[in-house]
Amino acid sequence: MPSFSDKQEILLEIISLLSKILDLEEEGNLAHGLRVAELSQGIARQLNHGKPSQLFVAGLLHDIGGMSLEKHVLHYALDNFHDMDARNHAASGAKILQSFHPFHPLVGWVADHHERYDGTGFPAGKSKHDITSEAGILHLADLLDIFSREHPQATLKEIRTFLNRQSASSVAPVIVEGAKRLFSTPESLGLLKEGAPGKPATATMEISFPEINAIAIPELICQLLWLTAQMADCKGAKRGFHSNRVAFYCHRIAKAFHSPEVDPLQALWAGLLHDIGIRSLSGEELKKDPALLATTSVLYQQHPLLSAPGGECQGE
Ligand SMILES: [Fe+2]
Ligand SMILES: [Fe+2]
Ligand SMILES: [Fe+2]
Repeated sequence: MPSFSDKQEILLEIISLLSKILDLEEEGNLAHGLRVAELSQGIARQLNHGKPSQLFVAGLLHDIGGMSLEKHVLHYALDNFHDMDARNHAASGAKILQSFHPFHPLVGWVADHHERYDGTGFPAGKSKHDITSEAGILHLADLLDIFSREHPQATLKEIRTFLNRQSASSVAPVIVEGAKRLFSTPESLGLLKEGAPGKPATATMEISFPEINAIAIPELICQLLWLTAQMADCKGAKRGFHSNRVAFYCHRIAKAFHSPEVDPLQALWAGLLHDIGIRSLSGEELKKDPALLATTSVLYQQHPLLSAPGGECQGE
């Protein structure tokens, strides 16, 4: 158990975990949230935006509302979001973030991260100055990551041409200018490779959320892990608040031990997190009877390992 002396560090560790859970599909190699975070922060710095670290966090969590979808929200992006459930992911994400007070500034940014400058975005069809610069930065970072996945060998010229096409159509021209300053040298193409598997997600990142200083550390961890648990529990209709109930039972059972070796708080945290590997299963699979699912689905049998990579599979 590490000594948690820095609340900002706890916040960063747990939201990185949230982002990883969302990206658990594709063998954990997706790192979409991390790339959008790095790109959003980079564009914000070029624009002398006052909140690059908040934009980093918003980038990590921008698709959090897509956790209940059949496939990763990225795949809907390629279909232009004709699926209504997929179109709801921005509003759903905003609602989840609303439940953690220090994230309130991020709520509107995440709600609008698919709005477009020309008014053809969703969910509200906002346009031009009705869209905040933060939502525009997230949108452009999102598009850049999708483009660079589709064109992994894209040259600097092709990236800049892509950015020019987004000016006054996807986002405000000033945001495109910031992104073009970010992509001004061949070395800058390395930014599109950020979040590669194995790279520590937050190795050099510092964030600043002064609002969390008023929250005691155990309470902070509980609130953030509660957010994390929602990602597993929203995945299947039969799972509503399952992790919260397991956490409650773990806490009560651990307390009954009356032993200094059994920490009820840690038991509660483990209960909240025990099923996060469920995120990698399709909604279709989770509709099956749990007993049938346990015997037929290899991914289900592996979900404890996805919840705790490196641990031994103990089942439930
Ligand atoms: Fe999105
Ligand atoms: Fe996205
Ligand atoms: Fe469970």
